Amino acid sequence: MDKERIVTAMSIKEDEDQSLRPQTLDQYIGQDDIKEMLSVYIQAALKRKEALDHILLYGPPGLGKTTLAQIIANELGVNIKVTSGPAIERSGDLAAVLSSLNPGDVLFIDEIHRLPRFVEEVLYAAMEDYVLDIVIGKDHESRSIRIDLPPFTLIGATTRFGDLSAPLRDRFGVVLRLSYYTNDDLKKIVERTSKVYQNDIDPDAVISLAKRSRGTPRIANRLFRRVRDFAEIIGDGKITENITNHALAKLGIDHNGLDHTDYRYLRNIVEKFGGGPVGIETLSATISEEVTTIEDVYEPYLLQEGYIKRTARGRVATEKTYQSLGIKYYKGLFDDES
Ligand SMILES: Nc1ncnc2c1ncn2[C@@H]1O[C@H](COP(=O)(O)OP(=O)(O)O)[C@@H](O)[C@H]1O
Ligand SMILES: [Mg+2]
Repeated sequence: MDKERIVTAMSIKEDEDQSLRPQTLDQYIGQDDIKEMLSVYIQAALKRKEALDHILLYGPPGLGKTTLAQIIANELGVNIKVTSGPAIERSGDLAAVLSSLNPGDVLFIDEIHRLPRFVEEVLYAAMEDYVLDIVIGKDHESRSIRIDLPPFTLIGATTRFGDLSAPLRDRFGVVLRLSYYTNDDLKKIVERTSKVYQNDIDPDAVISLAKRSRGTPRIANRLFRRVRDFAEIIGDGKITENITNHALAKLGIDHNGLDHTDYRYLRNIVEKFGGGPVGIETLSATISEEVTTIEDVYEPYLLQEGYIKRTARGRVATEKTYQSLGIKYYKGLFDDES
């Protein structure tokens, strides 16, 4: 992973700025369908005094899955325990978190697709019947004991819905897919951030930042912080469009929010592989990035914006990519595949 990269949606330390995290559904900008549904489910659960159904949130990094999990717990007025798939190595780890829950609590498992399979199997009964089946003792001495759990809500988050096993997927009553934010929503997020940080920002600068945020709140906030640094050093602290453009140019981010890593990826497809199709493994080797990073972090936005297409034979660059690279486009053999 390129350490210098600023438009990556992956989380870095400073992104965990809690002051920017909306606390309630009302403060959560965009994703209107999701908010509407959640609001109904939350009110219904509160009215029935029952635990909310298990919820699976999926979508690219930085779109607000963790934030939403915290908001749900907050709106329910319960505690949230936060863990992640890779952090739970043994079924004992899972048993420990589960037995620490109070009735109605939320257990948030980030990157739930990375739970080891045998841990997942313990989770099934916990989700379905609020029980914990654990095996104690060894070999012929071993026996299984069953422990009752309080009713709880599991919220799972993943960037890779397809990597989840079917039995796990089926145990979520509510499955919600977060989408990239519209420019309008990103503008509201940038405005909200400027209020939280108490930095004045020109409307043109808001538009400019929103446009370059790759549909991703985490990136909008990160760009905001970088531009704010420039505003404080070369200006009087006010974020103007000029300063924004200057800062983003210095950071190597173009007017569509693409940076040098995107261009390296796109250039490779076009220049080394004649525009594709090229397999993901081959690309991964040529640009020295992991397949999962390419698939989870770089590609979703490039796909959505129509820079590339995924075909059975690999990635193909579109005309839009050729235009961005300033290279003449010849309609390829594989154009009709998708
Ligand atoms: N809908 C939203 N409205 C306002 N800010 C948001 C929203 N979603 C995310 N954010 C901001 O973006 C940051 C990243 O969101 P996060 O929940 O960590 O994403 P994910 O868990 O999907 O990777 C949060 O800290 C928050 O400041
Ligand atoms: Mg998260």
